[in-house]
Amino acid sequence: MQRISLLNIAHNAIKERVQLNDVVIDATIGNGHDTLFLTQQVGPLGLVFGFDIQQAAIESTIERIKIHSHLDCLRLFHTSHENMAEKIPQQFHGKISAIMFNLGYLPGGDKSMITASHSTLNTLNTACSLISDKGIITVLAYPGHKGGDIETRDIKTWCQQLNKDKFQVNIIASAVANETAPMLFVIRKQTNTN
Ligand SMILES: C[S@@+](CC[C@H](N)C(=O)[O-])C[C@H]1O[C@@H](n2cnc3c(N)ncnc32)[C@H](O)[C@@H]1O
Repeated sequence: MQRISLLNIAHNAIKERVQLNDVVIDATIGNGHDTLFLTQQVGPLGLVFGFDIQQAAIESTIERIKIHSHLDCLRLFHTSHENMAEKIPQQFHGKISAIMFNLGYLPGGDKSMITASHSTLNTLNTACSLISDKGIITVLAYPGHKGGDIETRDIKTWCQQLNKDKFQVNIIASAVANETAPMLFVIRKQTNTN
């Protein structure tokens, strides 16, 4: 039996809420795999904003998109995702269809440059205010590295305090359930409220 990865589950959830020409955000672009996926969902007339604190991630993502997709829709920022509200033009606030977080460190890169609980939670609060009425946020968290355990625990707690009338939360554990296994958080804006 083929196991579906948490990343595939995140992508499938996003596909349900994102359409061609939409505006979306990759909060942690890394090597650009998720950014590529997002550019393919929104097409050349959509917009994908991306953030990373490492120049290497920006360069690697541009290379990937140049080869496999279209650069026209791409706007990358070499800065922390904490600056999201300031960097995303006002006209798109409340209109973002999807925001993806893939936490931790850049695979094959500097393992000390990791996402951190405090800034991730700050950005998640911002993300909730930027998404549209049908918007979705996915967060893939890795408790297996130092700091990742605290970050994953804090995101879980943060999810529990979200207003359930406004947000529907799904927490999906990896098939290999142990305390170091990745965890996916899917936060959907409830569509049946004003
Ligand atoms: C697991 S990687 C992302 C993988 C990526 N989504 C992909 O598809 O290749 C995590 C990335 O988050 C970045 N990062 C760490 N802290 C950040 C922050 N505060 N703001 C934006 N990016 C950050 C790291 O530099 C790293 O590239």
